[in-house]
Amino acid sequence: MKFATKALRVAQDLQGPYKPVIPPIYQSATFGWENLDTIPKFDYTRCANPNKSTLEQVIASLENGKYCVAYSSGMAAIQAALGLLQAGDHLLMASDIYGGTHRLAHVLLPRQGVTCTEFCAQEPLCLKERVQPNTKMVIFEGPTNPNMRVVDIAGIASEAKKLGLITVFDNTFASPYLQNPLDLGVDVVVHSTTKYISGHSDVIGGAVITNDEAKHNFFFEFLKTVGSTPSPFDNWLSLRGVKTLAVRMKAHCENAQAVAEFCEQHPRVKKVHYPGLLTHPDHQLAKRQMRAFGGMVAIDFETVEQAKKVAQSTKIFLLAESLGGVESLVAYPPLMSHATMTEEQRLERGIPPTMLRLSVGIEDVEDLIADLDQALAQI
Ligand SMILES: Cc1ncc(COP(=O)(O)O)c(C=O)c1O
Repeated sequence: MKFATKALRVAQDLQGPYKPVIPPIYQSATFGWENLDTIPKFDYTRCANPNKSTLEQVIASLENGKYCVAYSSGMAAIQAALGLLQAGDHLLMASDIYGGTHRLAHVLLPRQGVTCTEFCAQEPLCLKERVQPNTKMVIFEGPTNPNMRVVDIAGIASEAKKLGLITVFDNTFASPYLQNPLDLGVDVVVHSTTKYISGHSDVIGGAVITNDEAKHNFFFEFLKTVGSTPSPFDNWLSLRGVKTLAVRMKAHCENAQAVAEFCEQHPRVKKVHYPGLLTHPDHQLAKRQMRAFGGMVAIDFETVEQAKKVAQSTKIFLLAESLGGVESLVAYPPLMSHATMTEEQRLERGIPPTMLRLSVGIEDVEDLIADLDQALAQI
C-alpha cells in the first residue's frame, strides 16, 4: 500500500457484529478476561487500548517503522526516548531544537545524572569533536524551528553510528509525508502528533517509532510505568486526523510555497526562511531529502515593532502557538515556542526578536496572501 492508502486502511478492517466503518471509541479503563489461562490483548487502558493500538499501527506504517508507542503528548514521547539514558550518560543535542526538548535536556536530565551538550546539526562531522567517552545518544530535528534549516539526516545518522551513538530524530515539522528518518538510518523517530499527524488543533499527543524490538519494549514499559497514555478519545481524534495527512500536506506545501514567494518579493519583508525558495541555504539538500518543502515559513523584519504589528494585524492567520493544523497561525517565537530561552540563547540560534513564524494552513491561498498583504500595508 502507498502512503495515503496506508493512512486509511492499515489495521482498520471492519470488525464486530455491526462492522462500523469508523471504529468505536473504546472508552473503558479495563477489559474482561475470558479465564485465567489467557491474558487478553487489551486488559487495562494505561497500557493498551484498541484505539491506541490502531493509531500506533498506522503511524508505524507511515514512518516505514515496525513499532510505535503513542503517548499523551509530544513531550511525553521525547521523555520516553530520552529515558534510554541512565545516570552517568551524556547526550549530544542539536542546538537548534524545540524549546521543550531544550528544557528537558538542560533542566530535568541533569537532576537524573545525565549531562547534555549541544552541537551544530548543520555540520555532521562536528559530532566527532563533541563526543565524550560517556556519550550515548544524539537528538536532533529538522526543518528547524523557526528558521527552517534543513539538516542532513543520513549524514548525522551515519556519523553517529560510527561513534556508536543512538540517534533520535524529531520529525514533527516535516511529518512522515515529507521524510522518513528511519529509512535514512535514524534509530528512533519521535513526533508531536498534536501537529501535522492529527492536523486539526483539537488534540495533544505524541509517538515514538523504531525498528528495534528491544528499544520498542523499553518505550512500552516506560509508558506502562509512567502512565503518559493518551485517552481513547484522543487516539480516536488522532486517527481521524491522520487519515487526511497526504491531502493536507500537499495543500500545506503548495500554500506555503506561494506565501513564501509573495513575502520574498514584498518590500517590507527583510528575509524569508523557507526551504522551497532558491535563496534558502539548504534548498538543494531539502530537494534531495524531502518530498516537498513543508508548511512552515519564517519571515524577518527590520524592526521588532514591525514584526509585532504584523502579528497583531492578520485576520486569517490567527495569533496562536502551535503549528500543523488546517488553519493558518502566526507565532512570535520569543514569547511563544522559544520563551524559555534567554535573548542571548535565541540570538545564538539565529532567532532574532524581529522574526515571525507562519504555520500555513489549507485555506484558499488568495485569502492568505490578501491577509498578509493588508497586514504588511500597516507597517
Ligand atoms: C518540534 C516539536 N517537538 C515536540 C513538541 C512538543 O509537542 P507537544 O506540545 O505535543 O507536547 C513541539 C511542540 O510545539 C514541537 O514543535
